[in-house]
Amino acid sequence: MNKKNDRIEGKIIHFKSINSTNDYAKENFKHLENGTIIIADEQTKGRGRAGRSFLSNNGGLYFSIIHHSKVDISMISIFTQLAAIAVLKALNEFSIDAKVKWPNDIFINGLKACGILTELIETREYHGIIIGIGINVKSNQDEFKKLNIVATSIEDETKIIIDKEILFNKIVSILKEIISDFEKTKDFSKYKSFLIEKSNILGKEIIVQIGNQKYEVKAIDIDDFGNLLVLKDGRIVPLNSSEVHIKI
Ligand code: BTN
Repeated sequence: MNKKNDRIEGKIIHFKSINSTNDYAKENFKHLENGTIIIADEQTKGRGRAGRSFLSNNGGLYFSIIHHSKVDISMISIFTQLAAIAVLKALNEFSIDAKVKWPNDIFINGLKACGILTELIETREYHGIIIGIGINVKSNQDEFKKLNIVATSIEDETKIIIDKEILFNKIVSILKEIISDFEKTKDFSKYKSFLIEKSNILGKEIIVQIGNQKYEVKAIDIDDFGNLLVLKDGRIVPLNSSEVHIKI
């Protein structure tokens, strides 16, 4: 997987087909080095947030990065947003202007084209962070329609034919750089401003689901811990990504 672009260091394990790259990373976590990436051409049980499934047919890009971190536990959910930035910046290098639906979905022309699922394995010495990224690269409209999924792919929206390997290399090298900078500085503010610029929910009325309860709120800002600030009944409330589902 070292074609045409920045060389990716670290071990890459490639599967033609697997249930889920995040599941493989979790199940084999103890035996996998820091920085290992699991990548698959298709997933038979791709997973999204809140137990949802993530359709992962051949033609998409599906991978999970294992990252050991010692940052404070309160900062863990920021990693999802750093991954979103890496995807947005990599797409931008193909002249694709994508948006982020806080905290983990990437949209093109108002439709979801990518999802990010970050999971945590705690050890005594560090947090084991598994960052799973799934991108619909090639057209998949027939399958989406058959399964009643409202989503899109890069190809459907932009007509750009993307070499998955080049996209993969770009995302990984940008993400590694961003993570290493963030862990050195512990400063989310510069990343926050990029996310605010690329957000498709800020300034809008949205429905948030916390547990079984749904609320209509206005998304107004992102704070320095990566929380979404919303206006609810006249009060500003921070929402943590681990507990919230958003409908737009
Ligand atoms: C979401 O839409 O809520 C997140 C989707 C995340 C999908 C990626 S694909 C690679 C990794 N393996 C999985 O099973 N899920 C993530």
